[in-house]
Amino acid sequence: MLSVAPVDTRTFFDELRDREFSRLDAQHHAYLDYAGSALYGDSQLRAHHEILRDGIFGNPHSDSSPSRASTEVMDSARRRLLRFLDVDESTHDVIFTANTTAAIKLVAEAYPFSKERGCFLATDNHNSMNGIREYARRAGAPIHYLPLDPDLRLLDAELLLAEASLHGEGLVAFPAQSNFSGVQHPLDLVTKAHALGFDVLLDVAAFIPGHALSLRRCPADFAALSFYKLFGYPTGLGALVARRDALSRLRRPWFAGGTVMYASVAADAHLLRPRHEGFEDGTPDFLAIAALDAGFDLLDEVGMPRLTAHVSELARDFVCDLRALRHTNGAPIVRIYGPRDRSECGGAVAFNICGRNGTPIPYTLVETRARRANVSLRGGCFCNPGASEAAFALDPSRIADCLAKLNTEFTPERFAECTNTAVGAIRASIGLANNAEDIHRAADVVASFAD
Ligand SMILES: Cc1ncc(COP(=O)(O)O)c(C=O)c1O
Repeated sequence: MLSVAPVDTRTFFDELRDREFSRLDAQHHAYLDYAGSALYGDSQLRAHHEILRDGIFGNPHSDSSPSRASTEVMDSARRRLLRFLDVDESTHDVIFTANTTAAIKLVAEAYPFSKERGCFLATDNHNSMNGIREYARRAGAPIHYLPLDPDLRLLDAELLLAEASLHGEGLVAFPAQSNFSGVQHPLDLVTKAHALGFDVLLDVAAFIPGHALSLRRCPADFAALSFYKLFGYPTGLGALVARRDALSRLRRPWFAGGTVMYASVAADAHLLRPRHEGFEDGTPDFLAIAALDAGFDLLDEVGMPRLTAHVSELARDFVCDLRALRHTNGAPIVRIYGPRDRSECGGAVAFNICGRNGTPIPYTLVETRARRANVSLRGGCFCNPGASEAAFALDPSRIADCLAKLNTEFTPERFAECTNTAVGAIRASIGLANNAEDIHRAADVVASFAD
């Protein structure tokens, strides 16, 4: 009799999960909130611990050797991030911030908005981008929203910008990937906007955890990101990656420790430092920055094309599972938001569970049942009011009336009652550590709402 060698059917990602994320299976946890935060791998913790245990790091704003050690850690992390984004220091600068929000705010508060230099926001934007409009408003700049089509993709953005360019220029701000629907907006809008005379701030927070991004091919003036979304650790650290020419056009509204060549109280004078140093307020989190190398090492080991394929496959399977679910009367259980064909979508899937008559079930019930099943999903509007309002087809005047009526009494529940709509969805978002079992467990939670 022939003896047949056992076939190892475990994939690269199975082994990686055992090695780096064994706590998930030890706690029987299906974590599907990658758009909220990625998970860190064990190797990242070990590497960071070793660096801190062996190193002597001082405040980088000094000249001692511990201070120089910190500066070296930071400079090397800047180079690593730029390499990850396919550019280098000859064209780009990295400004360390607390998170994506702080990176966006650096641009918002320093951009020279004016009557002729407006603010053009995608309707599909995280609130951290929507807030830019308040700086534009203060400067008397026109504010425009680029609308979405029923698939939640940008609608005629280039045409609208071309028309607007007849009256002036300004800052176009959009996400490379929606944190609501997972839709990936066209990156070639960056070069098109440039050709029309606009500057571009690209929010890459939701895009880069699952996809390679080349800032050489997609020459956004500014790109904002958070490292915990990229590889889970450390938190409290993000970056603004800026083209050097674009950075030099910003006008900082203030100065702070670490940003000045000199400041005099007696002479009421100050001079900002050049490049990133003029933008990093106070002492950067130099010890957290020392953890970045290990996060990039993990992503390098996986390789971004393989990660993209893994995330896409799981997201596709999840959508198929959801679409197959029916009540006994044949009505679909799930309404998925975003494009039907799911092309050019990342690993986030937003949906509502509907009853037999098609009415959405409050998302909080789904969240609770998922939590009890040890499945982590996210419920709500995910800080993305524009995409939610478009997804739920909310009428703008109804929204305004309800907000005015509720005012300080606002709660999502009262707002849903007032507008008589779902107001809030469920989001499953997939990443590096996920496997098919996680997807099936989430689909089982959804299936439990049949009838
Ligand atoms: C697309 C997008 N932009 C911005 C943010 C804000 O990120 P942070 O809270 O890290 O500043 C998020 C967070 O979920 C996001 O998904």
